[in-house]
Amino acid sequence: MAKTEHFYISTPIYYVNAKPHLGHCYTTVIADVAARFQRLLRGGSMAKGGHGSVFFLTGTDEHADKVVTAGAAKGVTPQAWCDIHAAEFEKAFAALDCSHDDFIRTTQDRHKSRVAEYIRRLQQSRDIYLGDYTGWYDPGQEEYVTETAAKEHNYLSPVSGQPLVKRTERNYFFRLSAYQDRLIEHMQRNPESVLPEARRNEVLGRLRQPLQDIPVSRAVGDDPASRWGILMPDDPGHRIYVWIDALFNYLSAMDTPERRAFWPAQVHLIAKDILWFHAVIWPAMLMALGEALPRVLYAHSWWVMGERKMSKSLGNFVSIEDLAAYAERYGVDAVRWFLATQGPLGATDSEWSYSKFVEVYNADLANGIGNSTSRVGNMIAKYFDGVLPECASSGPDRPLAGACAQAVTASMASLDRFEIDEACRGGIRMVTAVDGYINQTEPFRLAKRIGEPGVREQLAAILTDCAEALRIASVLMAPAMPTKMAELWRNWNCAPKSGETLADLCTWGGMRPGTKIIKGDPLFMRADPALPEPGAVDS
Ligand code: MSP
Repeated sequence: MAKTEHFYISTPIYYVNAKPHLGHCYTTVIADVAARFQRLLRGGSMAKGGHGSVFFLTGTDEHADKVVTAGAAKGVTPQAWCDIHAAEFEKAFAALDCSHDDFIRTTQDRHKSRVAEYIRRLQQSRDIYLGDYTGWYDPGQEEYVTETAAKEHNYLSPVSGQPLVKRTERNYFFRLSAYQDRLIEHMQRNPESVLPEARRNEVLGRLRQPLQDIPVSRAVGDDPASRWGILMPDDPGHRIYVWIDALFNYLSAMDTPERRAFWPAQVHLIAKDILWFHAVIWPAMLMALGEALPRVLYAHSWWVMGERKMSKSLGNFVSIEDLAAYAERYGVDAVRWFLATQGPLGATDSEWSYSKFVEVYNADLANGIGNSTSRVGNMIAKYFDGVLPECASSGPDRPLAGACAQAVTASMASLDRFEIDEACRGGIRMVTAVDGYINQTEPFRLAKRIGEPGVREQLAAILTDCAEALRIASVLMAPAMPTKMAELWRNWNCAPKSGETLADLCTWGGMRPGTKIIKGDPLFMRADPALPEPGAVDS
């Protein structure tokens, strides 16, 4: 992934017709872990605004027709409905410790006024024009499906399985057909423009068919739902189609003199359900506007349950309450770790399972970084009074140092490819190396002979190496688990100093002799697999 001075990452903006669930939280948590890695890379703190050149945006998409019907059913205005549900998303992301720099809502004036201006520019350049459209409409998704896709799915919605409806509308159209060659050329010149590879091939495959111009407005009628949205400039008979309105959020949020330098986005993170809009329609609109194109569109796969995409409409989802119950029992960081390392980041879907959660929690956290840091901390307390001993032989030529350097290099390379899961797992590889090293060198046995010549020095070197390797492991795990790793850094007096970059922090030799090591409580208590799933009993 090209290195740029500014790093701007976005998530999709989520529909407010339903409460947030695991799927939405997943994307925002992954973006959060990526943003924290980027702040660390640049020597900033991992917290929100921790480095001036990193910007992380999430938010809500509020102009869907469903908002009006759902609000009416509860006796509230569409805006009140949006306010309630946008707050639910903000609350969910705060509970998951997400460090977004801004939360954009499409009903905000800052967004609406800019969208009207972008549309006006596109009308002036004749990329948007007035015409008629007839096609297969998916009412649940509020989108048209191409003739080929409609036929392929037996004229049922590819997403919900509900019947598609034939509709004709007088609309404004975006001249998408004019951008086909440029889109293909852009994708061929920039292999990272759509990732993972499978998604890129999917888009390139579909681009072999000629592109049709697409409607970008909906008629305003008598029913209140048809009046919900941003009106077409100078034509109150049409409002801007919710999807077009929504895509502009990525630009509208950054279209201020202070934020302009963040454009283009380094990563638009989405899931594969909304690939076409982001890989084809969005870049074509940006080309028409004369704006630079996002560097990477990363479309992850789905959390599934019972082999179907987890979704509110199918009812097979892990709710925000379920996630809160997991966080209550295991800690927020453990939930973040599971999402960051076990989710559908690549081209395959992930099945959610409680037993898998417990297995990963025990292996990576309780018996992994938790147990390893306790063991090493306890031995330093016992044999060296809790102070990292002076030792001449601890240096970069030590066996653990080599293993660490390899894990760090691999993690950094993963980060470049947006393989956030792999980047985090580098930490676990180092923990495993430390455990192996302890089993092999048996410091607890050596300690029994501490009075013999040279043994104290040997023991000091082993424990210093282990502490150093675990410190570096904790740095790689910190973007996913900022609270727990900060707890360890407090106990071990090794918190990153301001200005230290990820590369500095991952350089062997950070733990200095004389550093006080406080044993502290175990970072993670072991999980009992026999307990029922959280939420099933707790809520
Ligand atoms: N509002 C549009 C997006 C507009 S972006 C300009 C939308 N909203 S949504 O509420 O349906 O959210 C879709 C996104 O939520 C997915 O792209 C993905 O990021 C996340 N997920 C929702 N369900 C998911 C899964 N089952 N699995 C993984 N991610 C999921 O589409």
